[in-house]
Amino acid sequence: AAIKKYQFDVQVNNVSRLCHAKPIVTVNGRFPGPTIYVREGDRVLVNVTNHAQYNMSIHWHGLKQYRNGWADGPAYITQCPIKTGNSYTYDFNVTGQRGTLWWHAHIFWLRATVYGAIVIMPKPGTPFPFPQPNREEVILLGEWWHTDVEEVEKQGQKMGLPPNMSDAHTINGKPGPLFPCSEKHTFAMEVESGKTYLLRIINAALNDELFFAIAGHNFTVVEVDAVYTKPFTTEAILIAPGQTTNVLVQANQKPGRYFMAARPFNDAPIPVDNKTATGILQYKGIPNSLLPTLAQLPASNDSEFALNYNKKLRSLNSPKFPADVPQKVDRKLFYTIGFGKDSCPTCVNGTRLLATLNNISFVMPQTALLQAHYFNLKGVFKADFPDKPPKPFNYTGAPLTASLGTSRATRLSKIAFNSTIELVLQDTNLLTVESHPFHLHGYNFFVVGTGIGNFDPVKDPANYNLVDPIERNTAAVPTGGWTAIRFRADNPGVWFMHCHLELHTGWGLKTAFAVEDGPGPDQSVLPPPTDLPPC
Ligand code: C2O
Repeated sequence: AAIKKYQFDVQVNNVSRLCHAKPIVTVNGRFPGPTIYVREGDRVLVNVTNHAQYNMSIHWHGLKQYRNGWADGPAYITQCPIKTGNSYTYDFNVTGQRGTLWWHAHIFWLRATVYGAIVIMPKPGTPFPFPQPNREEVILLGEWWHTDVEEVEKQGQKMGLPPNMSDAHTINGKPGPLFPCSEKHTFAMEVESGKTYLLRIINAALNDELFFAIAGHNFTVVEVDAVYTKPFTTEAILIAPGQTTNVLVQANQKPGRYFMAARPFNDAPIPVDNKTATGILQYKGIPNSLLPTLAQLPASNDSEFALNYNKKLRSLNSPKFPADVPQKVDRKLFYTIGFGKDSCPTCVNGTRLLATLNNISFVMPQTALLQAHYFNLKGVFKADFPDKPPKPFNYTGAPLTASLGTSRATRLSKIAFNSTIELVLQDTNLLTVESHPFHLHGYNFFVVGTGIGNFDPVKDPANYNLVDPIERNTAAVPTGGWTAIRFRADNPGVWFMHCHLELHTGWGLKTAFAVEDGPGPDQSVLPPPTDLPPC
């Protein structure tokens, strides 16, 4: 194992896209930000220095940070922000994980431009459990706004309606030739006939699940969220914000130029977003003048593709990489996802939208929850988040507009160390149905079941996959449906859980788990580092 050191200078730089230049927040002046390359077992030190006039914090999305929430990064959850002119060193070990993850700003909407890849190579002498690629490439999918994202976010808070959509989707920060002035901002990847490439695909978009495909070329999916899968072949992948997907692609077609394309999956009854980011897969020696072949993507509302695709995702579950699925559950949680309204005198129409779990819209505290938990500070949060909604209702029937007693509070759930948890996330028709990619910090979980409509506590568990369910850190709850996850609470600390659609997070679609210390000597939260930003 080695120590890998990185310096992240957070600064403001002018970047031009879609015919306009605008100042954006970057790391080291790069957009997207630098890739972190490490090996399983390494210790990583990332010193973040904030030169920008914004508060900052960086999250290492998908890294488990065992006992070490201090390095997790979500602002006001595990640390207070790094203020202008200050530094903080994220100090963590990469243990028991290999594959693709990513990092991003975890404060307001700043992750719109502050994000990059984390590549974790297996330990030396440990090959991938799939054919060795000749080369690999990081593919970061994102969004681009003309306006300042802080403004868009504020608009989202003040309006009773969703704010503006982004102006483009991007592949490695580039929208591609379907957008104005973007010919020169097109991502291109050169390949050689007969070779195999590993694509490390990351969805860093703020608010869109995306389909991604390359014209004429199939993908073999081999890993998601840094967990190996049973390989399967597909013409396109579906990837939610927060998720990563590794695929093998073979340069086995007639040498030429082929479009790669990313476009939102959108089956909810809200405005449909059809913007398509494109890039080019180019065979070596082929002139740039040749017109590329167009990529075919599933229709933007193709729920069937989504359902089937997610069904094909299975953990590899080999002797070397077993799937340790909790077979018995100590505690069952059932959280409904809905929207609500709140009176707001300064907002348009005097109301604003809230998003809720069990009718509770989470309010961000002023002191980081992990500090309050560790130092036993009173008055920061209440550990009384309900295990289930106040009373059952027809979750996905006709739209419900009546207020179900929506409240705003900083409430979280206390979890006993090493207990096994099952959490069913149930989408509802409270105002409207929609898909929600849920991310849990500090853990991977197993997606043991998913379905459309209301979860049936008798019938549905009988169909759970407890053998090789996909293991990951972010899973979509389907529009008007439910998803059941299981995990063992073996990582003490306070861990954020939220919808990875930034719009919904901002409206309060989040909560946290305070996992208690275990009795053993190595089962408690580590002491905080001395440079932890003060609150
Ligand atoms: Cu990728 Cu809480 O975030």
